[in-house]
Amino acid sequence: MYSPISEEKVFKDPVHNYIYVQDDLIWRLINTPEFQRLRRVRQLGTSYLTFHGAEHSRFSHSLGVYEITRRIITQFERRGYSDWPASERQVALCAALLHDVGHGPFSHSIEEAFDMNHEDWTCRILLGDTCIHQVLLELGDDFPSKVASVIQKTYDKPIVMNLVTSPLDADRMDYLLRDAYYTGVNYGTIDIDRVLRMLRPYKDRVVVKESGMHAVEDYLMSRYQMYWQVYFHPVTRSSEIILRQIFRRARELYHQGYTYQFMIDPLPALFEGNINVNQYLRLDEALIQTAFLQWTDEKDQLLSELCGRFMHRKLYKYVEIDNLDQGSIDAIRQAVQAVGLHPDYDLEIDFPTDLPYDEFHPGAPQSEKQILLLDRYDGLREISEVSEIVRSISGIHQGRCHLYYPEEKISQVLNALPDTVVKIFRQPN
Ligand code: NI
Repeated sequence: MYSPISEEKVFKDPVHNYIYVQDDLIWRLINTPEFQRLRRVRQLGTSYLTFHGAEHSRFSHSLGVYEITRRIITQFERRGYSDWPASERQVALCAALLHDVGHGPFSHSIEEAFDMNHEDWTCRILLGDTCIHQVLLELGDDFPSKVASVIQKTYDKPIVMNLVTSPLDADRMDYLLRDAYYTGVNYGTIDIDRVLRMLRPYKDRVVVKESGMHAVEDYLMSRYQMYWQVYFHPVTRSSEIILRQIFRRARELYHQGYTYQFMIDPLPALFEGNINVNQYLRLDEALIQTAFLQWTDEKDQLLSELCGRFMHRKLYKYVEIDNLDQGSIDAIRQAVQAVGLHPDYDLEIDFPTDLPYDEFHPGAPQSEKQILLLDRYDGLREISEVSEIVRSISGIHQGRCHLYYPEEKISQVLNALPDTVVKIFRQPN
């Protein structure tokens, strides 16, 4: 079934230098419209409003995950490790390449606003009436569902899922390096070649040779730094809040029978909650931003104001708040409402736990969430048992709580608010 390409194709990549395509199958998947759509979806959502360089796409990330997976497998094959099932090469490469194909525009905000899940969409694209499905079918009737089951983590070869989705997988390694490169921060720059050299297939999973522990520590430290400096960044959260409010307001208006001056397919289907695969594939960030720009002229003042904020980067201001209980939150909401502001739009409390990237939990009982070190006696140990550095950074997975608000609106009513509430808005940050 292995069909090498007549001539190896090469992509120039700023992170991995070169990305090599050696299989005809991979080359044809890259050239499907569904995969090309990923060029129009940014990898880091609204982070470009905080780090202007963060314009990289899910297309480049997906190629990067493919390339890391290809390098790992090639190394396993070259060294002749018998624990790596050679027949799984194609499934692993396809799953790596296609793992994010279901991401929508501004993925995490849109998923939250419309209760969707990109992994479900990835599977619907793999299994539905799409060009990707047609290409995958050439490797057998059950091949598309094999790839989909890797994405759903139900595939019967755990080692393949381990490569594509685990705490030390190709996905995380690529986004860490790529996000660091494009945001311009210095934290995510790990020695990937060293990490890859230390990986071993062992029984049904991928483990790390014990002497590679420090390289893995470095990788986990970089991740930790990236969480705090990039993924948890309060300015990015501010833009995500506005984005969610736009989606919320637009859907609200749609269901109220509001007549839009501007509407574009497939947004009505999205608002109705019955969007199909073909419609979903028309969603990209160009379409969303076109709608937002047009909506800055809508008659509904709230929608036009929110869209103006997002497009012209007039983000909400924020203050850090600690230990705010529900009672105090309600009191602030009531006070804001009493002076004529909207408690659902002019105020947002944000606990950044719903992050785009799940955390590494060293103590987690499920072994697939652990990073295991292999010693020279063939013994396995979970990394936090051995590494003090890993122990000290694990378990911290909640960001600080922030209160977001439109500064100019709040400052207009500040005199009318109770002192206890004014104190919260006035605190230094
Ligand atoms: Ni990914």
